[in-house]
This record gives sequence, structure tokens and C-alpha cells, in this order.
Amino acid sequence: MDAKRGLDGVSRVLKIRVIAPLLVVAACASAPVSTSSAKRPAAEVAVERGRDLAELRCGGCHGLGLYGESPRSPSTPFRDMRRGMTALSFQQRMETIAEGRHYDMPKLGLTAGEADDIAAYIESLELP
Ligand code: HEC
Repeated sequence: MDAKRGLDGVSRVLKIRVIAPLLVVAACASAPVSTSSAKRPAAEVAVERGRDLAELRCGGCHGLGLYGESPRSPSTPFRDMRRGMTALSFQQRMETIAEGRHYDMPKLGLTAGEADDIAAYIESLELP
């Protein structure tokens, strides 16, 4: 009968409208609080990647942290570069350096993405 089918239809809609959102809420509530990179802001992850890269590739010469000298003179500590350059000018500088065009630096062979990450790290240095 049409009337019966109509009622089934209503109850199906009710199930979808009422139960489905409850399932979503339950799924969210039971999701573990995660600090995995997938859940964190991209900028934060870029800064971390940049720091790791800098430790690996730049820290032999440039001072990376907020204090202390560069391990190898005359390399400028990154925090001082931060002082002298805007984020954009630094990034442009990095791209030039990554291509191997800098008088005093070894060819770094960074990808554009790696240069961006290191720029993000340097930009994140809170100057004292
Ligand atoms: C073998 C030592 C060495 C390593 C490794 C090194 N640098 Fe340098 N870098 C120098 C020296 C020397 C200079 C020139 C003096 C100065 O400006 O600090 C320099 C200059 C720079 C400058 C300023 C250049 C300019 O004129 O604008 C930047 C930016 C820079 N380095 C970034 C980096 C980054 C990023 C890394 C790692 C990916 C790195 N360097 C690795 C030695 C090094």
C-alpha cells in the first residue's frame, strides 16, 4: 500500500537524519587526540622540517638557534639573517643559493620546497 510505503520512507529518513549524525559525533569523540603531522597546521610542520634540514645541512657552519656563535666563521648565525631580511627576501636569497649562485657558499642542492622550509624555520625564530 502507498500509505505504508510512505511511512517506511519517513522512518528511513528519520534513521538517516538522526542516527547518522550521532555516529559522526561518536566517531569524533572516540578519535584519539593526535599530534601526528597530518593533523597539525602545515606551517608548523614546515618549520619543523626546516629545522631538521638546517641542522643537517647548515648547522656545520651557521649558528641555528637564538644564542651562541656560528660553529664556523664567517658564517652568519641564522637569527642575524632573520634580523636583516624579510621572509620574502630571505626566500628569494635561498632560491639563488640553492641554485648554487653564491660567492662564498658551497652548492647546497636544496629543492625549492626545502628552501621554503628552511626559510619558514628562520622566520619562526623569535628574536630576543
Ligand atoms: C661550509 C659552510 C656553510 C654551510 C654548510 C652553509 N653555509 Fe651559508 N654561508 C656560509 C658562508 C661562509 C657565508 C658567507 C658569510 C655570511 O653571509 O654569513 C654564508 C652565507 C649564507 C647566507 C647569506 C647569503 C647572502 O649573501 O645573502 C645565507 C642565506 C645562507 N648562507 C644560508 C645557508 C643555508 C640555508 C644553509 C644550509 C642549507 C647554509 N647556508 C649552509 C657558509 C656555509
